[in-house]
Parts: sequence; structure tokens; C-alpha cells
Amino acid sequence: MNRAGIQVHRYEAARDNTGAVPVKGGKSLMDHRLEAGATLRAAMIVTIDGPAGSGKSTAARKVAARLEIAYLDTGAMYRAIAHAAESRGTDFEDGDALAAIARSIKLELDCGPTFTRVRVDGHDISEAIRTMSVSAKTPFVAREPAIRALLVARQRVMGRELGSCITDGRDQGSVVFPDADVKFVLEASLQTRAHRRHREMIADGEDVSVEEVLENLQTRDNVDAKQWEPLLASGQAVVIDTSKMAIGEVIAHMVSVISTVVDGRSA
Ligand code: DC
Repeated sequence: MNRAGIQVHRYEAARDNTGAVPVKGGKSLMDHRLEAGATLRAAMIVTIDGPAGSGKSTAARKVAARLEIAYLDTGAMYRAIAHAAESRGTDFEDGDALAAIARSIKLELDCGPTFTRVRVDGHDISEAIRTMSVSAKTPFVAREPAIRALLVARQRVMGRELGSCITDGRDQGSVVFPDADVKFVLEASLQTRAHRRHREMIADGEDVSVEEVLENLQTRDNVDAKQWEPLLASGQAVVIDTSKMAIGEVIAHMVSVISTVVDGRSA
């Protein structure tokens, strides 16, 4: 448990106490660099921002697994607060009530490279936070400045505790980790994103139409885009349009960008 009240699972391969990425069997990018004689001493933070359905979380999980570092899913934190508020029958127009809930709950995250488990007050709500109803209510939580301030502070603490990590959200490269080593913005057309999200939700047993998903994404886009626009305007982000790319291509491209940065640091 850290000072901010979040229990952080240290993924066992993430880093030893020297700060070096440990050598393990297998063919991760980090191992490859280490075999080549390089040691990554400082923590590496990779941020992925962009709209819902752009493939951020899939990419983040897969790249995290390849590099054997932790995945910090910040959307899960906003969703967890929305779920807690929904369970309490809170009025989502009442920002103060939402902020009071955010401050009072015990929010715990286990950040593995391929999974995120979320608990609120000891209850595992990892699946419950993915419903359409929670997705539709989370923007009310995310627009509340007091809640953003709370979660931004917690995410920074988690980033420090995890060492190297890949984090995805909306404000990760712009606000939470402005000094991140690599910043990505993933994009995709609204149609592509709606179909992707729809497939995921149907697979999760949700009874929802593509039109409903599209409408939900559109509403969220207008608010969310403001968070990563500074990264685009300043040219800090590596922008990837995933509309016509297979996930394997997206991962290969991201790993190649990260690899260039690792090479630059170890030279
Ligand atoms: O990535 P996601 O769909 O799990 O995000 C859920 C909601 O939380 C979405 O409305 C955007 C918001 N969010 C945010 O405002 N900032 C973040 N860092 C992550 C998510």
C-alpha cells in the first residue's frame, strides 16, 4: 500500500532494487538490449493517449508484456469511482458528491503487464467497471477537477513505485508524466472505433447496438480530446492511426520507436 492509499502490485520482472531491468529468459526487447551489453538504469515511462476504441489498452498490454514491465490502466481508476457512485445511487450532476466518494473509497489496483485488477473497499470490480452504463457515467467523474487532481497525484506515485511502466489514458503524456520517455497518441476513425468497442462489449455479454456505442464514443470524444491536444500541437507525440492497421503492426511500430529511445539512452 502506498501513501496515496493505492496498493501497487510490483510485477516481479519489472525491476530490481538497483533500478536495472532484470535479465530473464525469453526475447523481450529489454533482454535483447541487455544481451547486447546495455543496461537500462533509469525507469522508462511510456504514455499512450487517445480516444476510446483507438486500441490503446490492447496496445499497452501487449507492449507491456513484450517489455516485461507494468501496465497502468488509468481509465480503470475513473471507472472505479463511477461504479462506486452508481452503486450508491449518487446524482452524477453533483460534482461535490462524486469527489467526496472519490476521497472516501479505498481504491486498489494490481498492475500486471497483461491484466489490471481493480478493487474498491475490498470488492473486486474489475469486470463490473466495463459495462455500458459505467462507460456512459465515467465522463461525469472525469470532468470533475477535484477528482482529476486526486487521480493525477495517485498515478504519479504509482508510476514512481512501478518503475518502468506503460500507462494509457487521456492526459498521461500531457499532464501526468510530462517527462515520459516516449509519448504515443493512438487514433482511429469513429466508425472503426465503434465497431471495435461493440465487438468487445458483445463478447463481454453486453446487449448494445453499434449505434449506441457510436453515440457514446462521440459524446466522450468532444471532452476527451482536449487532454491530448497539447501533445499534438507541440509535436511531442508519436501519432499512430490504427484504423487500417492490424494490432501486430501497431505493436511492432511502437516497439521499434521505444527501441530507438532505449538505444539512444544506452549509447
Ligand atoms: O480509457 P477508458 O475508456 O477506460 O476511460 C474511461 C473514461 O475515463 C473516459 O471517459 C475517459 C476518462 N479518462 C480520463 O479522463 N483520463 C484518463 N487518464 C483516463 C480515462
